[in-house]
Amino acid sequence: MKNFELYNPVRVIFGNGESEDIGQYVDGLGKKALVVSYGSATLNALRGRVEASLKSRGIEVVPFYCITANPLLSHIREAVDICRAQGVDFCIAVGGGSVMDSTKAIAAGALYEHDLWKMFISRHDCDVCIPPERSLPTVMIPTLPATSSEMNCIAVATNDETKEKAYIYTAALYPTLAIMDPALTCTLPASHTVVGAVDAMSHVLEAYLNGDQRSPLQDRLHEGILVTIMGELREILKDPTNVEHRANMQWAACLAWNGYLQSGLDAPTPMHQMGHVLSALYNTPHGVTLAIFMDAFFRYTSKLNEERARRFALLGVKIFGLDPQMPAAEAAAKTVDMMVSFMDEIGVPHTLSSAGIPLSDIEKIADEIVAHGCNAEGMLPSIPPIGTEGIMEILNMAKGE
Ligand code: NZQ
Ligand code: ZN
Repeated sequence: MKNFELYNPVRVIFGNGESEDIGQYVDGLGKKALVVSYGSATLNALRGRVEASLKSRGIEVVPFYCITANPLLSHIREAVDICRAQGVDFCIAVGGGSVMDSTKAIAAGALYEHDLWKMFISRHDCDVCIPPERSLPTVMIPTLPATSSEMNCIAVATNDETKEKAYIYTAALYPTLAIMDPALTCTLPASHTVVGAVDAMSHVLEAYLNGDQRSPLQDRLHEGILVTIMGELREILKDPTNVEHRANMQWAACLAWNGYLQSGLDAPTPMHQMGHVLSALYNTPHGVTLAIFMDAFFRYTSKLNEERARRFALLGVKIFGLDPQMPAAEAAAKTVDMMVSFMDEIGVPHTLSSAGIPLSDIEKIADEIVAHGCNAEGMLPSIPPIGTEGIMEILNMAKGE
């Protein structure tokens, strides 16, 4: 395990019904709140309850309901202007990762003195950003288990002018409060539930496969989270309104990416770096981009060398109950096959063609991955680091023709 610093100041209120009267939890945050949500009518009833609860405590509500999936920098800019013009005191997110990330960027942006795009790290390890140091207080009311945005200091958005998806990652972005009410997730259709679960699985797998490999405690925690997400997802697909299963899923997805499990691993996120390019170019849902690379990247890396094969074999033993005596190469291949079968079972597209991405664009996609996902040496951080040839190989494996 590597040295690490862990700091997570987010106050969490978790439980069925906790979103009914959110006003009781926001005392002291201010008198005027920007409430951020999607442009669709999906969460209308919840937004109505949130607005009513705030107003009943004398808090003025400024609604900003126009966020899209794969959120846009232009919307963040618009909301920051509103916050400044109207003297907003704090911001509330009502939605999934796209809404929560936007809200965090808006709240930091309201106090930021440079151009907002400078808050974002647009290339994995290069020094082009000026991280925000302050933020208005933020309250997260998550409605989709996936990103753990409610409990971490990350915000991801697409620059709609440059078609670049990038992220902010700095302590100022930690939410003040997360009100996690699993009942809110019961309305999710199967497609969004599945895509969110795949994202949470990918968070575990990025760290498990690409982080420090001498951390047995973190390994066991990751395996537990992964088994839980996969098991709960199967139950939810059978019984979508079962709030117990929804609760287990929500907490597991939150723990998968709130920083606890990544401590001491120092893990890069190669599948995410590649996936962000697909979302930026084709608006592909984030979890679908991860499903594509959980197939192709796994096939590619599991065969690279004996050490990689042993890691995938261990995963198969712990997750799928493979025989620990099975030769590593055979177990690694079986692990990848079983993961792909699981994706078929839950019905998530996991190839470029099934996700509607034009195969003729593969070289352009590779160029974008190198420009935005690779380090200054042109390598995609991973175990082992992957160069342009490897990226092309992964993309060819992802075609799925
Ligand atoms: O608007 P409609 O069509 O109704 O659908 C909404 C939304 O567009 C629907 N939805 C959300 N809650 C619902 C619901 N439908 C019914 N009932 C509910 N309770 O879900 C659609 C997708 O929502 P979105 O917020 O985009 O999904 P998700 O939570 O998966 O967030 C994805 C975004 O988070 C970023 C991704 O890159 C992507 O932009 N990520 C953020 C991270 C972080 N902050 O740490 C890490 C992740 O790796 C990820 O990069
Ligand atoms: Zn993710």
